Amino acid sequence: MRASHPVHQSSVSRRGFLALTGAAGAAAAMYGFSAAPAWSQPRFPENPFTLGVASGDPTPDGVVLWTRLAPNPLASDGMGGMPGMQLPVSWQVATDPRFKDVVRAGTETAAPELAHSVHAEVGGLLPGRDYFYRFRAGDQLSPVGRTRTAPPAGSTPDQVRFALASCQAWTGGRYAAYRAMAEEDLDLVVHVGDYTYEGRGDETLADFRVNHARYKTSPDLQAAHAAFAFVVTFDDHEIENNWAAGVSQPDNEASNEPARFLQLRANAFQAYYEHLPLRRPQRPDGPDLLLHRRLDYGTLACFHVLDTRQYRSDQLTEAFPGGPQHPDVYDASRTLMGDEQERWLFDGMASSPARWNVVAQQTIMARVDYDAGEGISVNHDQWDGYAASRNRFLSFVDQQRPSNPVVLTGDWHSAWVNDLRSDFSRPETEVLATEFVGTSISSGCGWAAAVKAARPNNPHVKYLNPDLRGYTRCVVTPGEWRSDYRVVPSATDTAAPAVTDASWVVEEGRAGALPA
Ligand SMILES: [Fe+2]
Repeated sequence: MRASHPVHQSSVSRRGFLALTGAAGAAAAMYGFSAAPAWSQPRFPENPFTLGVASGDPTPDGVVLWTRLAPNPLASDGMGGMPGMQLPVSWQVATDPRFKDVVRAGTETAAPELAHSVHAEVGGLLPGRDYFYRFRAGDQLSPVGRTRTAPPAGSTPDQVRFALASCQAWTGGRYAAYRAMAEEDLDLVVHVGDYTYEGRGDETLADFRVNHARYKTSPDLQAAHAAFAFVVTFDDHEIENNWAAGVSQPDNEASNEPARFLQLRANAFQAYYEHLPLRRPQRPDGPDLLLHRRLDYGTLACFHVLDTRQYRSDQLTEAFPGGPQHPDVYDASRTLMGDEQERWLFDGMASSPARWNVVAQQTIMARVDYDAGEGISVNHDQWDGYAASRNRFLSFVDQQRPSNPVVLTGDWHSAWVNDLRSDFSRPETEVLATEFVGTSISSGCGWAAAVKAARPNNPHVKYLNPDLRGYTRCVVTPGEWRSDYRVVPSATDTAAPAVTDASWVVEEGRAGALPA
């Protein structure tokens, strides 16, 4: 390798960024990392692990580990203060936090093309176990992360515990909810989007990289990532407010030029991938990113993770928080998931051996009617704007009877528990599934008064709290699903512990939420 990178080495020396020294190799060897050629043992004048570490998408035998080298994370060129050269980054996985029992190790290449992010897919681990991991670049060691593999395929674990998270606007205050979450005992965190909020005018790859890096500098977000594996999907704000497939918001300059918006989308997708623990199939190809995927927790739970942005029909109206229902919401040619993903979801739910079919997705599925009178007023960015898609989903549940469907939702910066009915206008109709909408980690709910006023119009809404930030802790056993709505007094007060605002359960075999 040395012979193939002579230019890189000299460019590093010229920049004075890295001091090339063999001594660091000896230091690294003391930590149990194998010695690498001296040229690849640079000494970093500053810590390159400013963005922390993360793990994601656990399987019974492995997990993907993430970090990114960025000694100057907010550098305006988006390169994190790194030179334009490749560097080896080693990783270790151990059964103990002191790395006395290292069970897997390897080396990845951190490349400038991916902003020196590292995605190490580790296999060969035991199911249902805690592991500790860390990275090394040159003479620098990363913080230690902890992760947990999924239970054995085909087994029925006693329980799975996870947190539902979404909507963490930097300007909303950082990050009491993550500080509290990191204290929990969880198998994983399911994040359903608005992990970042685009800055005004963000369009270039550097724009999106700097924005992601800014969020990742939060010690509380880093603590949650270091504590648990995350399973993530994006919503709109990782790219742009209310984007729909190839269509931008009308008030964005790029909306007038479809090719320009697709380039913006490609830039946002790439930065998203670079900053999250995603596996190789989720690496974007230009403006395309395959994000919908499935994770099994034995036969207890199957997580069907959706992407309801990339393939959707455009919104019919932008009225906020709601507007008179557009007649075309029932147009069967309109779609929220795209035909292919919809078939994938229905096939996967129908054939899943799991007791609980968890649909992790973005916007509220239940009807939320804002009109207290005869009319119907809805938000057309949510499933209400795609009622034909919702009817197809609920008809599928009605006819195929997949085992215990539970829908998880973010987006609306408010906590809800909703019964999903075959006909929302007739409260006597059957409840087919249950929806838990988590409140935001930090994003404010400026429309709290409107959703409170709308509640009496929507008898299928069992619980509503738009006033507090937090996360939803879900404890799932073969006989019962329990959702604890954990809230913090303010998004910024990291000293305050989380408390449970309300707890709701679903009994196995019986859709619909009951107070715990
Ligand atoms: Fe949001």
